[in-house]
Amino acid sequence: MGRIVVQGGSPLRGSVKVSGAKNAVLPIMAASLLAAGESMICGLPWLADVNTFCRLLAGLGVRCTRLVSERCLLLDCRELESLEAPYEYVRRLRASFLVAGPLLAREKYVRIALPGGCAIGSRPVELHLKGLAAMGAQVQIEHGWVEARADRLQGTSIYLDFPSVGATENIMMAAVLARGVTTIDNAASEPEIVDLGNFLNVMGARVTGMGTRVIRIEGVESLHPAAHTVIPDRIEAGTFMVAAALTGGEVRVENVIPEHMAAVTAKLREVGVHVEEAPAAIRVRGNGHLAACDIKTLPYPGFPTDMQPQFAVLLSLARGTSVITETVFESRFAYLDELKRMGANLRVEGRTAVVRGVRKLQGAQVKAGDLRAGAAMVLAGLAAHGQTEIGCIHHIDRGYEDLVGKLAGLGASIWREDDL
Ligand code: EPZ
Repeated sequence: MGRIVVQGGSPLRGSVKVSGAKNAVLPIMAASLLAAGESMICGLPWLADVNTFCRLLAGLGVRCTRLVSERCLLLDCRELESLEAPYEYVRRLRASFLVAGPLLAREKYVRIALPGGCAIGSRPVELHLKGLAAMGAQVQIEHGWVEARADRLQGTSIYLDFPSVGATENIMMAAVLARGVTTIDNAASEPEIVDLGNFLNVMGARVTGMGTRVIRIEGVESLHPAAHTVIPDRIEAGTFMVAAALTGGEVRVENVIPEHMAAVTAKLREVGVHVEEAPAAIRVRGNGHLAACDIKTLPYPGFPTDMQPQFAVLLSLARGTSVITETVFESRFAYLDELKRMGANLRVEGRTAVVRGVRKLQGAQVKAGDLRAGAAMVLAGLAAHGQTEIGCIHHIDRGYEDLVGKLAGLGASIWREDDL
């Protein structure tokens, strides 16, 4: 177990290039299972979660070849040797559950461990299973395993009680080879859903409506392998934008799709940060004065829950009182106890956190409870007086490629200390 050490107080300056989107890569890796051939995914972030997903696919019989310098992954799904996704992967990487739809669609069967909860919530999958059952799959849950089988899935109309990202993705991937048309109503509309739909269509699927609340999938007989470059990671981009604002610096964040950042950009401007958009980059300039504002996390295009911890750090230093409401996950405030140890003045009431801005945070020894909480602790260290040590940094490595190197490149005094 290593730790990240940050000496706070340096305004960040310069340019930083955002990597490919983790939450687009993972479902697209699952989608490659739908074609018996070799697909190529490019624009890869080299992350722990991508490595874990490669191991999961290898367990199914997929040959994964990394083209490191090209940032591409070759996935040879010609021969599948197993239709089972074991608990050892699903418990570590919830996105493993996304192989359910593709395996069921291609091989008419899947056996997959039920994902448990995690630091931010119970993370059930009943919307995924309800969708597969609505398409005619026989679904059984026993001893912590889900077994689903279907000779051929049947297109149907599905309404999602909540616009779940994962459920939308699993149902899309199951429906592309179903007989007839499937519509998903109240579907998730995140950019990663659009990217998945674009990849499926390059494979020969007929998916329309991605990015809206109603997605329509016309089933086809078969799909062929494809090549695709994933979209940039909007959450990594937002993390650097907040880092620039927090430290009173000026940073040009490159490899960004500005329209994906609309909610974060609007809120940064609301607290008084200067944000300038270019076609594929965003420049952020902090001016040392931050005004309080209220945040409510919502499904896209609302303010992203994955930016809630990072923004809470910013608001902990804003002048005035801010109210943060987390509507997507039921327990995504645990990290605030760590932030309080750095001098933040806040209290949590259920799904709401009331944050009274303070003049300064103090460096301290803290830990990363989950991926985005870990990133938030790093941001707090950048702004704090003195030195901050962040433990449990394996969480951060899951979703940020070389966060320390990228921040050091912007002038931060930050380094990793891995245990000998
Ligand atoms: C995806 O998770 C992302 N992960 C998450 O990013 C992100 O926070 C989340 O979407 C919301 O945007 C990946 O894409 C790999 P959901 P997912 O299904 O698909 C409830 C990160 O840090 N729900 O939209 O698991 C669920 O409990 C991660 O990169 C049900 O009730 O999210 C939660 O409260 C964290 N039943 C809410 O919906 C279901 O069947 C949102 O979950 C499914 C979900």
